[in-house]
Amino acid sequence: MIIAIDGYSSCGKSTIAKGIAKELGFIYVDTGAMYRAVTLFCLQNNVIDNNEINEFLLKKYIDSIHISFVFDAETQSQQTYLNGVQVEKEIRGLEVASWVSPVSKIGFVRQKLVGMQREFAEHGNIVMDGRDIGTVVFPNADYKFFITASAQVRAQRRYEELKAKGEQVDFEDVLHNIEQRDLIDTTRSESPLSQASDAIVFDTTNVTREEQLQWILNKIQQS
Ligand code: DC
Repeated sequence: MIIAIDGYSSCGKSTIAKGIAKELGFIYVDTGAMYRAVTLFCLQNNVIDNNEINEFLLKKYIDSIHISFVFDAETQSQQTYLNGVQVEKEIRGLEVASWVSPVSKIGFVRQKLVGMQREFAEHGNIVMDGRDIGTVVFPNADYKFFITASAQVRAQRRYEELKAKGEQVDFEDVLHNIEQRDLIDTTRSESPLSQASDAIVFDTTNVTREEQLQWILNKIQQS
């Protein structure tokens, strides 16, 4: 079974997807983490230099970028690995966040990651979150959810998350980053964020995390 969860940045997709995976015993794939890992690779290897992305260099490197996920039983959380190195903290910072949307606009990056995402589904039941899962990666997914929430509420949630991790952040910067990402993600020519016509829409603006998960599980169990 494939469950696709798409939606805007920081609207609770990954919390919902992780909860479903735990509840139903599915594999969870955070595709945003994959785009973030490619972005970190770019920052670490001078692919992003002088405030621009060297697409020629990235194309040369793209097949040497390996991304995997390992479930850490101690912290009960999934960790992202880039070429064998755990990069969970690095990919969640504001520097990666400010470059990830331009990197994810690049066609050959998307092709590479979509291929990897389809391979993950060969290993069992899967819940995957992202921007194009129900529209491009798995147009025949068994369930498709499209999650929304106001930009203000999303920024507040993200700001609190970053603060809790000890990051020095300014709320206005977080809000600006979210608005910028919304704009790039929805207007890019390659697989823009859009709602699949057969997706179930869920606005989480005024819904707690626990209620969000329960709402989705009810939808899955009802049908
Ligand atoms: O879900 P997230 O905020 O971690 O995603 C980071 C960025 O990656 C997001 O701004 C757009 C991009 N992305 C994408 O283009 N396609 C996906 N399937 C997942 C994420």
